Amino acid sequence: MDYNKICREVVAIATEAGKYIRQEHDSFDSSKVETKGKNDFVSYVDKTTEKMLVEKLSQLVPEAGFIAEEGTRKDKGEVYNWIVDPLDGTTNFIHGLYPVCISIALQENGKTVVGVVYEIGLNECFYASKGNGAFLNGKSIKVSDKQTLKDSLVGTGFPYSDYGKLNEFMSSMSDLMKNTHGMRRIGSAATDLVYVACGRFDAFYEYGLSPWDVAAGAFIVEEAGGKVSDFKGEDNYIFGKEMVAANNLVFNEFLSRVKSYLQ
Ligand code: IPD
Ligand code: CA
Ligand code: CA
Repeated sequence: MDYNKICREVVAIATEAGKYIRQEHDSFDSSKVETKGKNDFVSYVDKTTEKMLVEKLSQLVPEAGFIAEEGTRKDKGEVYNWIVDPLDGTTNFIHGLYPVCISIALQENGKTVVGVVYEIGLNECFYASKGNGAFLNGKSIKVSDKQTLKDSLVGTGFPYSDYGKLNEFMSSMSDLMKNTHGMRRIGSAATDLVYVACGRFDAFYEYGLSPWDVAAGAFIVEEAGGKVSDFKGEDNYIFGKEMVAANNLVFNEFLSRVKSYLQ
């Protein structure tokens, strides 16, 4: 498979679907919000976007299966699988905020080979294909070169329904607030990850994540020269519901700090 070619096609598909999200963002009626669980929202915009994406991606790689957040298609491909979040940042979206993005990963035998995160607010498309590096709107991107946590800006996601590790998380934040440049909660995990990939953030961590939140972004971080892991420092970060990402220079310091509270 020509990963680079597939990646270019996925960029075009995501950019097209993003036009629909942008149009709805500007005129969204919040009475159209449905609740899937505590603080877990969805609307016709997530569902319609997912249908558009699934249709196009099915044509692109007919033999691939799907893991898609809104369940438009749920079938496992023997070799290839798409992991799709049609709208990452739904809480931002329903409150008229950005960032909001589309996140699409293609896996081959369980390993990501293409990742695309299209952030609609700033019209920024981040993408990578295996072995070809990472890009933002056509320009090559790299993780930052910050060497220590004290010079780093850290992205995270606040717990919003799984409060199982809330106290430990608050302690980790208290430490990081005092020992970094500061912390940001921008409301879209896929965007957090690509912000690590392009060096805007130096590190990111969150628990309670789903595969569609992280599969594409984590791959883009790696292709941009960064590192990703679960809270143990192992590689169960796509299905393991926890994620640490950072540039390669601060990764070990950051992971051991996160580990000391959340492991
Ligand atoms: C959410 C966003 C958010 C993160 C949550 C995710 P959604 O995805 O990525 O930043 O904190 O864990 O579920 O629901 O907007 O697709
Ligand atoms: Ca998401
Ligand atoms: Ca979503």
